[in-house]
Amino acid sequence: MTKITARVPPDYMLAQRTQRTQRTQRAQRRRINGAMLAAAFSLFALGVAWHEAHGPKARAADELQIMQARADGASQPARALATPVVAGGNELVKRGAYLTRAGDCAGCHTADRSRPFAGGLPIDTPFGTIMTPNITPDPDTGIGQWSDADFLRAMHEGIGKGGERLYPAFPYAEYTRVTEQDVLAIRAYLDTLTPIHFAPPANSLKFPFNQRWLMVVWNLFNFTEGRFVPDPKQSAEWNRGAYLVQGLAHCEACHTPRNFMQGLKSSARFSGAVQAGWHAFNITPDSTSGVGEWRDDELIAYLSTGAAAGRANAAGPMGEVVAGSTQYLLRIDLRSIVIYLRSVPPVSGGEARPRHQWGNPADDVSVLRGTAIKGVNGAQLFVAHCASCHSWTGQGVGASAPGAYPSLIHNSTVGASSADNLAQVILHGVRRTTKHADVLMPAFGNQLTDAQVGAIANYVTRQFGNPQSTMTAEQIALLRAPPRAQ
Ligand code: HEC
Ligand code: HEC
Ligand code: HEC
Repeated sequence: MTKITARVPPDYMLAQRTQRTQRTQRAQRRRINGAMLAAAFSLFALGVAWHEAHGPKARAADELQIMQARADGASQPARALATPVVAGGNELVKRGAYLTRAGDCAGCHTADRSRPFAGGLPIDTPFGTIMTPNITPDPDTGIGQWSDADFLRAMHEGIGKGGERLYPAFPYAEYTRVTEQDVLAIRAYLDTLTPIHFAPPANSLKFPFNQRWLMVVWNLFNFTEGRFVPDPKQSAEWNRGAYLVQGLAHCEACHTPRNFMQGLKSSARFSGAVQAGWHAFNITPDSTSGVGEWRDDELIAYLSTGAAAGRANAAGPMGEVVAGSTQYLLRIDLRSIVIYLRSVPPVSGGEARPRHQWGNPADDVSVLRGTAIKGVNGAQLFVAHCASCHSWTGQGVGASAPGAYPSLIHNSTVGASSADNLAQVILHGVRRTTKHADVLMPAFGNQLTDAQVGAIANYVTRQFGNPQSTMTAEQIALLRAPPRAQ
């Protein structure tokens, strides 16, 4: 049977903690705002509750819509989504295993490799930390006692077994589009996992956000319940791609910017957002700001291996997505994802040149090789720490194969309009295990000071990338992982 490989807590989770320290400093100011927001929310929620109780007509209409969507969704896309061919065994469970990877459930529900799916991974949100729950079939600490209806309700409506509202850090706003049949296949697969008795630590959310019922208000503005409805005007592939991207693969959870309530900004879908201190780039078909210039096979290579030569490499959260999810998707599903992404409205971010189109090989640092490092000189530091793999010219070694030491020229992270991802890569390295390669770039966070990391980043962007992207030592300090506050 297919084995899911669990992964260690990702480095980018650590980076999130940096942001939290910043927040602690601003907590004083925020507390007042928070209290006002809470008051406003409470009043509003009371209003909503009143309307729910007194507006039976409106509610009936909503329900009708949902039922229709359900009926539509139940038949079509389930068939459209390809099923991997694996010999023998239970087809439902196999399909469930595939879909569980497409949804990257293990990515969030595994904190410790030795306890796959047993939860405990802290997810930092602007409102505090949420711990992922145990979704193994353990009856006491997992979902062993959940009925299929309970499971469906969690995935489709964001409601827990006890009727409590779940936080949208669990991407139910996307999973609601997944057909009942596919959700039950996932359940069937989860049921085959070894039950692990483990109760993750409690959430640490600040008032009023520890009030789960407030999610009623959040849902009202940011959540539309309902299964994916295929568009008969589009091809089967487009529909399959839309079903995956909008549903299980939850690409928008990182690539679509959020409003002040942390709901997805539907006017700027896929146009890029900051996620855990990383820029999840604009992946709309805009030819300058998005991925419009990428060829289909390059996008497919990126999603299946994490590397597209001359375009980009997947580090941080995207490295996790590739390693835990997209590398397992069948080519036909990856193709479908690309076809769908090509069709979303292009959004310009105002960039002058595509991220992957910057940089020239260095021709002036050879004289620095072997000289003693004095002070904080970006070129010298680059030669000392980076050139062994990326070459002093920046052109990399064996650069066109996945797992090679990539060229820093024509690399989207080096050419991006912000050097945040570059600094993250220097601080935390790259670790991505796929069936194609074990990719490892060491983390330099412990060896180099903030000023040194900044100097290297500035040298790299000036020489090999977008010279307008600069970093100060202070900015590096904010991206670093400090000890957990509180
Ligand atoms: C981006 C991170 C993330 C991903 C991906 C994710 N989850 Fe979760 N999940 C969470 C968080 C966080 C919670 C807890 C929400 C809360 O406490 O309100 C949760 C809660 C749940 C619950 C409710 C459990 C309980 O005890 O209340 C279930 C069931 C669940 N997830 C199943 C899944 C499945 C199945 C998948 C894959 C299809 C998945 N999750 C993918 C973050 C995630
Ligand atoms: C957990 C957050 C997250 C999710 C989910 C996610 N991405 Fe990403 N994505 C990122 C980040 C962060 C980057 C930048 C990575 C880097 O700089 O190495 C990125 C980069 C990319 C790029 C490269 C863009 C460029 O110009 O370099 C593509 C293409 C992409 N993502 C597509 C997708 C698709 C398709 C999905 C859904 C199947 C998806 N992503 C889901 C966070 C995410
Ligand atoms: C031991 C070899 C090694 C060293 C030393 C090294 N790198 Fe890397 N680097 C890699 C590998 C491997 C990758 C990932 C390749 C892949 O994604 O397929 C990578 C990727 C990158 C990327 C692309 C990340 C992305 O998200 O697109 C950048 C930028 C980078 N390195 C910069 C640096 C800098 C700056 C230094 C010096 C501080 C450095 N590297 C040192 C091996 C190395």
